[in-house]
Amino acid sequence: MTKTPKPAVYINPRTGAEWPTATALWRAPDDGSYVNLSPGAGLSPEDIDTSERSLWRYAAAIRLPAPPAASLGEGWTPLIDAEWAGRSVLMKAEYFMPSGSFKDRGSAVMLNYLKQVGVSKILEDSSGNAGSSIATYAAALDLQCRILLPAAAPEAKRIQMAAMGADVVPIDGSRDDVARAALAEADEVFYAGHNHQPFFLEGTKTLAFELWEQLGFQVPDCVVTPLGQGSNVMGCHIGFQELLACGAIDKMPRIYAIQAANCAPYHATFQSGGDTLVVIDPQPTIADGIASATPVRLREVLAAVRETGGATVAAPEAEIIAALGNFARKGFFVEPTTAACGAGLTRLIESGEIGEKETVVAILTGTGLKAVDKIGAALNL
Ligand SMILES: Cc1ncc(COP(=O)(O)O)c(C=O)c1O
Repeated sequence: MTKTPKPAVYINPRTGAEWPTATALWRAPDDGSYVNLSPGAGLSPEDIDTSERSLWRYAAAIRLPAPPAASLGEGWTPLIDAEWAGRSVLMKAEYFMPSGSFKDRGSAVMLNYLKQVGVSKILEDSSGNAGSSIATYAAALDLQCRILLPAAAPEAKRIQMAAMGADVVPIDGSRDDVARAALAEADEVFYAGHNHQPFFLEGTKTLAFELWEQLGFQVPDCVVTPLGQGSNVMGCHIGFQELLACGAIDKMPRIYAIQAANCAPYHATFQSGGDTLVVIDPQPTIADGIASATPVRLREVLAAVRETGGATVAAPEAEIIAALGNFARKGFFVEPTTAACGAGLTRLIESGEIGEKETVVAILTGTGLKAVDKIGAALNL
C-alpha cells in the first residue's frame, strides 16, 4: 500500500512564518511575499507504485490532502538516448504529456490540491503552455478557469485553452504586462498563478524522481533545462534535494538553466555574482515561453543553480533557431522555447563545461505542434 506523506505547511521564506495547507494561499498573509512548501521527506525505491504509469507512481511523496480526483496520465515520460554536438545526451521528452508540455506535472498536482481544499474558480496568467495545461486540468476536475495571456501568444495555445472551456483573455503587451493584469484581478478570483502557488512545484519535483528511477536509481551528472521563471529548475532542485536528504542519493546533479539572450534577467544576475536583480531591457525572442523579465523566485532559482555547481547560459536567437532545426532533424519536434535548451547545451559541450564522460539530461519541455507557424517562419519552410 502507498505510504501517505506527512502534510506540508506553507512557509514564507523571508519571515519564516508558517500556515496550514488546509486553506489555499498564493502569497504570504504577513508580508505578501511568495510562499513555499515545507521540505518533503523524499522517497525510497520501495515507495514507488510501479503499477501506476504516471507521476502518481510517486504519490508517497506528493503531499495532497487526499488521493487525486483526476489524472490524465501525466508524467512517466520517455528518456531517450540521442546524439548532440558530437556526444551522447539523454533527452527527457516532457512533451509526451496530456497538454503537450512539462507544465502538466505542476498543473495536475496544483489543481487537484485546489479542488480538495474547496477552490472552485481560478485565475492564471501564462505565456501559453501553463495556461493550456491549467485549462486541461480545470476541465478534468470541473473547475472554472480564467486565463490571461499575451495577445501575441501562439494561436494554437489560445485555441487549446478555449476548447477546454477556459475563459481566455488576450492582453496587449509583454509577458510581464500579462502578469500585472492578473495580479490586479487576484482579489476577485483565487489566483492560481503557477509561478506563485507552490503546489505547482510539488508537481514539477516529480521530474527529479523520474530521472532517478529511469537511470536505475542514479543521479545524472547534469540536467540542462530552459529557464523562464524557474518551475523546472526549482522542481529538479526540490526533488533531488528531497532524495539527497533522505539518503536515496549522495550528490546533486549540476543544474544548467538556459535563457534566451534577448531576455535573460537570471543570466545577467548570475553573471553579476550577486542576487539583486540586474534589470534588463527585454527584446523579442522566438523562445516566447521564457520571455519573462521580472523573476518571482530570483534568489531561490539562482541559489539552486549555484549550489549545485551549475550555471546559466544566454542563447542568442540564431543559435536557438539552429538548435530548433537540429532537434527536428533528429526526430524531436520541439517548440522554439525548448530549442533554447539545445542551444545552451551546445555551448556547454563545446566549452568543455560538461565533461566527455558525464551523464547529461536535456529537458525537452514543449511540443512543436503548438508553434508550427513560428517554426515554419524560422526554418523557411
Ligand atoms: C516550452 C517551455 N519550456 C520552458 C518554459 C520555462 O519554464 P519556467 O518558466 O518554469 O522556467 C516554459 C514556460 O512557459 C515553456 O512553455
